[in-house]
Amino acid sequence: MKTTAVLLAAGKGTRMRSKTPKVLHPLGGVPMLRHSLDALAGLTGQTPVVVVGHEAEAVQSAVGNSARCVVQAEQLGTGHAVMQVESTVKGESDLVLVAQADMPLIRRETYEALIETQEANTGPFSMLTVIAEDPRGFGRIVRNAQGHVQAIVEDHEADEEQKKIRELNVGGYCFNAEWLWAALKRIPLSPKGEYYLTDLVAIANQDGQPVLARLMDDPQETIGINNRVHLAEAEAILRARINRGWMEAGVTLLDPATTYIESTVQIGADTVIQPNTILRGSTTIGADCLIGPNTVIENSTVGNACKVIASVVESATLENRVDIGPYAHLRKGAHLADGVHMGNFGEVKNSYLAPGVKMGHFSYIGDAQIGRNVNIGAGTITANYDGENKHKTEIEEDVFIGSDTMLVAPLHIGKGARTGAGSVVTKDVPAGTVVVGVPARAIRKLK
Ligand code: UD1
Ligand code: CA
Repeated sequence: MKTTAVLLAAGKGTRMRSKTPKVLHPLGGVPMLRHSLDALAGLTGQTPVVVVGHEAEAVQSAVGNSARCVVQAEQLGTGHAVMQVESTVKGESDLVLVAQADMPLIRRETYEALIETQEANTGPFSMLTVIAEDPRGFGRIVRNAQGHVQAIVEDHEADEEQKKIRELNVGGYCFNAEWLWAALKRIPLSPKGEYYLTDLVAIANQDGQPVLARLMDDPQETIGINNRVHLAEAEAILRARINRGWMEAGVTLLDPATTYIESTVQIGADTVIQPNTILRGSTTIGADCLIGPNTVIENSTVGNACKVIASVVESATLENRVDIGPYAHLRKGAHLADGVHMGNFGEVKNSYLAPGVKMGHFSYIGDAQIGRNVNIGAGTITANYDGENKHKTEIEEDVFIGSDTMLVAPLHIGKGARTGAGSVVTKDVPAGTVVVGVPARAIRKLK
C-alpha cells in the first residue's frame, strides 16, 4: 500500500516559554524536528509533508528539501493541522501516517510497525500507545470489550478515574486516507476553539469501526517534549542511545555519562574517548585515536591515530598521528598535517603546519604556512595583525625558530634558517641564515 507521512510541527510550544519554536530547540545538536524527519525519511515511497505554522519560515528552512511544507496559518489544533494537508496528499496514497515533531525519540521501526498494523486493519486507523508510569500530560486510552480503542481522553478533560489510566496516546497514527479526509470534516470544535485529531476515535466508534492500538514496548521512545524538563530527559536518552551505538561499533567510551556526541558525528573503531568530551557538528574522527579527557571538538576532521588531550578544536583538520594538548586551541582553518606535534598552550588559526612540525609550548600561529619539520620554539608568536589588516607568515622547511621569537608579518623565512631566542623578526630571512636580536639581524650563514 502507498503511504504518505505527515509531520505536525506548526505549534508554538507555549510550555517551553521560549522565543524559539519548540520544534527548533536543539536536541542532540540538531533541531528537534530533524529526528522525526530522519526517522520518516525514505520510510514510505512519498516525500513526507511537514505542517508548519508558528515561525513558519524558520521551521521551513530547518526542514530544507527533505520534505514538502504546508502552512497552517492559525494553529487550531492537531486535527486542524492535518486538514491543511488534504489538497497536497489526497489521491497520492492509500494510507496517511501522522507523526508529531515533538516526539523526536520515536524510531523508524516503530513507525514501520504502525503502518503494518494499519495494513492489516479492516478499520479506518491504527495508533501508537504506551503504558508508562509518568503520563506527562498525554491523552488516556480507553479500550472497549474487544480491546479496540474506544476513546482518547485529553489530560485536561480527564476525571480522577480516567487520570489513573496508564495507557497513553503517543501521537502517532496511520489512517486509511479516504476515510481520513471525510472524517476530518466531522471533528467538532472543542470548547477551547480547537479541532482535536484525537476526536477521530469517537467518530470511528460512532460508525462501529475498529481503531487498533499498537502498544509500544519502550517507554523511553515515547518521551514527548512539552517543556524543558522533558527536553533534558530526551537529551539524556538520545545521548545514551548514540553512545551505545558507538560502543557497539567499536569505540571505547570510558565514561558514557560524561561523553556528549552529537548525532552528526562519525568515529572510527578502536578510538578511545575519555570523560568530559563533547563532539559536535560535522565532526569526523578516525580510528585508533585517543580523545579527551576534557575536550571539545566541533566541525572538524581528525585522522587516524591522533591524540587530542584537554583541548578545544573548532573547524580544524588534523591528519594522521597528530598529537595536541593538553590545552591546545585549534581555530577555524587550522590544518595540522601528518605527525604534527603541538604541546600545551598553543593556538593555531587559519594556518597549515606541514608534516613533522613541532610546536611544543606556548605559541600562537595565525595566517601562516609552516614547512616540513619546522621546530617552533616555546613562546613563538606570529604577529599577524597590525591593527588594521591580517598578514601572512611563510616559513619554509627545516627552519628552527628559537624560543620567544616574534614573527612580525608579512614575513618569509627561507629553508633551513634559524632565529635566535628572543628575536623580533621584522624582515624576510634568506635560506640558511641565522638571525638574532631586536630587530633581528643576520649574523651568519649556515652551511
Ligand atoms: C497531543 C494529543 C495527545 C497525545 C500527545 C502525545 C491531541 C489533541 N492531543 O497532545 O492525546 O497524548 O499529543 O504527544 O492531539 N500542532 C500543529 N498544529 C496545531 C497544534 C499542534 O502542528 O494547531 C503540532 C505541534 O507542533 C506538535 C504536535 O502537533 O508537534 C502536538 O501538539 P501539542 O500541542 O504538543 O499536543 P499535546 O498537548 O502534546
Ligand atoms: Ca506535545
